[in-house]
Amino acid sequence: MPVITTIDDLKRIHKRRTPKMFYDYAESGSWTEQTFRENTSDFDKIRLRQRVAMDMTDRTTASQMIGQDVSMPVALAPVGLTGMQCADGEIKAAKAAEKFGVPFTLSTMSICSIEDVAENTDKPFWFQVYTIKDDDFMKRLFERAKAAKCSAIVITLDLQILGQRHKDLKNGLTAPPKFTIPTMLDLATKWTWGLQMLQTKRRFFGNIVGHAKGVTDPSSLSEWTAQAFDQSLDWNRVAELMKMWDGPVILKGILDVEDAKKAADLGADAIIVSNHGGRQLDGALSSIRMLEQIVDAVGDRIDVHFDSGIRSGQDVLKAIALGAKGTYIGRAFVNGLGAMGEAGVTKALEVIHKELDLTMALCGHRDISEVDKDILLIPEDFS
Ligand code: FNR
Repeated sequence: MPVITTIDDLKRIHKRRTPKMFYDYAESGSWTEQTFRENTSDFDKIRLRQRVAMDMTDRTTASQMIGQDVSMPVALAPVGLTGMQCADGEIKAAKAAEKFGVPFTLSTMSICSIEDVAENTDKPFWFQVYTIKDDDFMKRLFERAKAAKCSAIVITLDLQILGQRHKDLKNGLTAPPKFTIPTMLDLATKWTWGLQMLQTKRRFFGNIVGHAKGVTDPSSLSEWTAQAFDQSLDWNRVAELMKMWDGPVILKGILDVEDAKKAADLGADAIIVSNHGGRQLDGALSSIRMLEQIVDAVGDRIDVHFDSGIRSGQDVLKAIALGAKGTYIGRAFVNGLGAMGEAGVTKALEVIHKELDLTMALCGHRDISEVDKDILLIPEDFS
């Protein structure tokens, strides 16, 4: 086993061990992938101020997200098909997050169901809902999340329509994969993945199959998915959905000041400044470029969280310095999961925590709650 010190190290192992169609599903963006690329490259444009001769003992990254204690302000983002990166992937990722003291967010489009994750973890997790047309299905999803004692709901607003990802179409992405000659050849070299999959029954979308109207078995799933998302979603519908949940609500996928103000007016507990990791509107500005103006507009009324492009603790620190009260990692934890299962997610969290802690100290801070824009050197044309 090579020495792993970065998320990139995990990504290389993830690529080697996981079927191409699932690796590509994670490591791609929509259309030309401009936004996907800039989500990470724009982080590099922000530089840090080195400070010296300041007491750096007794440091802490402990913080709160929506009033819940976290060991660092980093949650695992909702990621569909996580259980295809590695068998029972959602359960493994949730366990790693629980042990590390950070929130895990389960996607509607997960392989393991809400109940699977609840049965295999001790602490409450967060549940992400997509806005689906079928009201009964939505109500049942909220009821199931309540029964599983989920401690927050994340409503994703930036996927009324699916952004096109070329690789998924070319690879013929399905869960589980269909047996074609290219997938068989690929699987021949990924046999540890295949072996794990044979040992689990969780291979289909666990929140949907057997729960959505007309989806009694996996064969009827693709038809349902094609027409399920609510293209007519508007702010009135968002308000209705928020009323279905009597706990904290986080609105995900906000990239515009006007939308942030609307979310704050509705009384959400937090918003996530996000462009879905560059998987939806290609050509949108990177998430980190939009963060400061959104914090300036609504940060005094609502907690502003951040995702898209985080690959290191330095990135987390930059987002926090720009005013985010919490951040989420998507691909960074998926790389760990695909590389080494639960241990890989733990490794991803360890890597990010260490980078965050040491970088914070080298910028002259001992407590993450003290960090502000003072530590950043931002180019004039950045936002
Ligand atoms: C996602 N994302 C996502 N978001 C969501 O609300 N529900 C979902 O089911 C998914 N599925 C999903 C699958 C994969 C493979 C990826 C990479 C992402 C978006 C995710 O929550 C988050 O916004 C991004 O991953 C953040 O960007 P980074 O950290 O991956 O750069």
